[in-house]
Amino acid sequence: MSLSLSADQPAAPADADDGVWLECIECGETFAPFADIRYTCDECDSLLEVRYDDLPTFEDFAGEGQGVWRYADTLPLDAGVSIQEGATPLYEVPDLEDDIGVEALRIKHEGMNPTGSFKDRGMTVGVAVATELGVDRLACASTGNTSAALAAYGSRGGMETLVLLPAGKVAAGKIAQASLHGARILEVDGNFDACLDIVQELAGRGEAYLLNSLNPFRLEGQKTIGLEILEGFLADYDTVPDRIVLPVGNAGNTAALYKAFRELVQAGALSRDEVPKLVGVQAEGAAPMVEAVENGADEVRRWDDVETRATAIRIGNPVNAPKALPGIRETGGTAISVTDEEITAAQRDLAGEGIGVEPASAASVAGLRTLRAEGIVTEDERVACLTTGHLLKDPDAAAAAGSEPESVPAETAGVLEHLEH
Ligand code: F0G
Repeated sequence: MSLSLSADQPAAPADADDGVWLECIECGETFAPFADIRYTCDECDSLLEVRYDDLPTFEDFAGEGQGVWRYADTLPLDAGVSIQEGATPLYEVPDLEDDIGVEALRIKHEGMNPTGSFKDRGMTVGVAVATELGVDRLACASTGNTSAALAAYGSRGGMETLVLLPAGKVAAGKIAQASLHGARILEVDGNFDACLDIVQELAGRGEAYLLNSLNPFRLEGQKTIGLEILEGFLADYDTVPDRIVLPVGNAGNTAALYKAFRELVQAGALSRDEVPKLVGVQAEGAAPMVEAVENGADEVRRWDDVETRATAIRIGNPVNAPKALPGIRETGGTAISVTDEEITAAQRDLAGEGIGVEPASAASVAGLRTLRAEGIVTEDERVACLTTGHLLKDPDAAAAAGSEPESVPAETAGVLEHLEH
């Protein structure tokens, strides 16, 4: 099967361009990467993946700059529309590490990207491909972060951007970003999955180039999260992590990290049993992937009604499930759901270590806590939790989870008196 962890090297088909091609994950049909616009397989409509005939090892990561483009050898192009994305911190959290009870815990904080989420890693590649294809309008459906990143990278690339958002369900910081970076914002009377259905049809009619994670090029940029985590652990512990825990919405990151590891195995840079276990965490009110993993199913059942405080992952139809489910299974990982209260508690735990994240991000830490309490994660494990977006993305959720401001008079004596009470 094409998505298994194997050391087999693929051979380039005739339609490859400089050793790069697109391949259907179901039927294996191949396509030239930049000749036409396509998001899924012409033959069977399944998901496509970018494939390479020459896969790099750690020593080959020597591209331009510090972030995503340092990994140019794992990407379909050498350079992109860049705002210095990637190279995010891998924070130590000693108190939380003790409290949860693992050998090592590190937080890969993707909120430290230019627009405050991991989406920038995908957009720097996706918008570069859009330039290569010669399109002039970009579009996405979004729970907020994708729209902020698309707006920023699209405007930097000189392209028009169109974003479809579920009305009333997108955090304030994200709409503000999309708006200031000049996106045309369409608020849809429906949830994210409805927005994605519509934008896919618009893209299919040639109205715009689709930059949701259904677009295989975007996931190439997101692979670099996994590569940075591995390099960080190798530098600090001389070994890769046992486990990576991440929030799941469309399961794009789960698919991207798994692809990064598969390619390292193919390149001979990582052995099969070194590959970190991938653990996906969803909010209880939007957990179709967890349902599929628990039932050992090969497909995910779409949830029509989804609800969670973590609006970024309020998603009922994870489009990358066919790529992500094999990743969870083949690495020996799992998927777990957490309550909104557990998410807020984890947001406070991270804040206590000085790390400010939006609710969806905290799901990873909440999930790790539960798995450790259940004994599925053991005390000797070295774990990385991915936090996907910055605290300021959702200021309302942060204020609700934090302390209340107190009113004081405008003079020192009055302030002192207030502090004494
Ligand atoms: N965390 C945050 C902060 C997100 O914004 C998203 C997805 C996810 C996690 C889930 O990642 O889809 O790779 O499993 N946000 C998308 C958006 C849907 O529109 O911003 P995934």
